[in-house]
Amino acid sequence: MPNKDLAIVVLAAGKGTRLKSGLAKVLHRAGGRSLLEQVLRACAPLKARKTVVVVGHQAEQVTAVAEPLGATSVLQQPQHGTGHAMQVVRRALGNAKFAIVLPGDAPLVRTETLEALVSLHRSANSSATILTAVLADPSGYGRVLRKSESSVSAPVSAIVEESELTDSQREINEINSSIYCFTLKNLWPALAEVKPNNQHRELYLTDAIAVLAAKGQLVLAQIAPDSREVLGCNTRADLAAVDRIFREWKRFALMNDGVTMQLPETVLVDPDVTAGEDTLIEPGVQLLGATKIGARCTIRTGSVLADAILGDDVSVEAHSVVAQSRIDSDVVIGPFARLRSGTHLKRGARIGNFVEVKNSTVGEGTKAMHLTYLGDAKIGAKTNIGAGTITCNYDGFHKHPTTIGDKVFIGSDSALVAPVRVGDGAYVGAGSTITENIPAGALGLARGRQVNKLGWAAKKRRALAATEKSAKHFRKSRKNSHRKKRK
Ligand code: UD1
Ligand code: CA
Repeated sequence: MPNKDLAIVVLAAGKGTRLKSGLAKVLHRAGGRSLLEQVLRACAPLKARKTVVVVGHQAEQVTAVAEPLGATSVLQQPQHGTGHAMQVVRRALGNAKFAIVLPGDAPLVRTETLEALVSLHRSANSSATILTAVLADPSGYGRVLRKSESSVSAPVSAIVEESELTDSQREINEINSSIYCFTLKNLWPALAEVKPNNQHRELYLTDAIAVLAAKGQLVLAQIAPDSREVLGCNTRADLAAVDRIFREWKRFALMNDGVTMQLPETVLVDPDVTAGEDTLIEPGVQLLGATKIGARCTIRTGSVLADAILGDDVSVEAHSVVAQSRIDSDVVIGPFARLRSGTHLKRGARIGNFVEVKNSTVGEGTKAMHLTYLGDAKIGAKTNIGAGTITCNYDGFHKHPTTIGDKVFIGSDSALVAPVRVGDGAYVGAGSTITENIPAGALGLARGRQVNKLGWAAKKRRALAATEKSAKHFRKSRKNSHRKKRK
């Protein structure tokens, strides 16, 4: 729903002292994205006329995240509090009638909750509407004072910050989320009356609430349907708690799409990952980045997929790593395989244990089952790569390609020194070091010729026995001469 009269203000100038970090708070990540990106994504569907991010600490880096997401940044320097931040953005808001204000450090808020907040604000013709939550442990948050304690729909008279609470106010468990909708023409005069009467000598936006209420203007509070949505990230423990919730939501979404997860709480999935119906994810799997998994795949325990595109019916066996790779349908990978960037495995290919593939295409039905390195290689269909095959793609200065045709048989323990080509249907004898092209249908053999020396072993044993005997004799005579000396 477009909101032509609405502006969005994200407060993101603070340092985040309690995180003890060199990185500005809103650039820390939860649920696979920066806190700021999470907040801006939740706001985007509201289609506000303008989105402004208040920046201060690491302004340049924060702006670099905000601008590609369609927001404008406004510098607040120095930071004299959340009320001061609003005064700083006043001009940037132009003719907007209403503003939703959100802290950059509460990333779990959902679009529907913001829509409901604006809609209550509009329909009640209120001056300020606060998103609140009822928490079992409200410590650390500002508390919401209602005009009547008996009604949860009673108007608000004030927000009291934790440091200013009286003993009886400390019992209140309805907290300020720091997410509000304001009618701007009423906010500005109220904010002008706010004084920095607190420990930090800051202008608190929360104090504007009491000013509005005292002027007889309507201030409402809407309780968030899920109190987890308002969680702020002031500490590393908060970040971990919020990350856990995002991850849980993502897993639920995948399961809703028809994915089976065993011990889902052990599976980590980034926000953009998709997976098809009847795919099975075993415990301890990580699905990262832009990974897309087809239908009926199996991703077994301990595997990590990053920016991997999988077709249907793919099996990734235990403890495999697949990064920046394209895997067509019916492929089997691992256990213990490593696919690096630029790998393309075509339909029905099989990559087994301790096989590493980088920047290579492996043709349909081709197999490399054991202990192999394939780098900068183009391999045709139905080829067999024997155990211990190495493409020697690097000469210390440059990378070179290896081209292997269809239906080739590479014997075990072969080194293919690139650049080199092996034609269709060719064979490579086991243990070869191939430095020259092999024509189609030929056998390439490049190893020392075997010689069998008859009777050699018996002779060797006799010679060894003789040396052992004379050594024993020598040790004995030395011992005796030592004894004589001591006497
Ligand atoms: C704030 C609220 C508190 C509420 C809590 C919810 C105030 C005074 N208190 O407290 O009632 O329960 O959020 O999480 O607002 N910021 C600026 N410029 C500044 C100061 C802060 O942009 O000068 C930004 C911060 O970067 C942050 C947000 O405003 O994103 C909130 O500031 P923070 O210091 O985290 O406030 P809290 O103590 O959490
Ligand atoms: Ca906070």
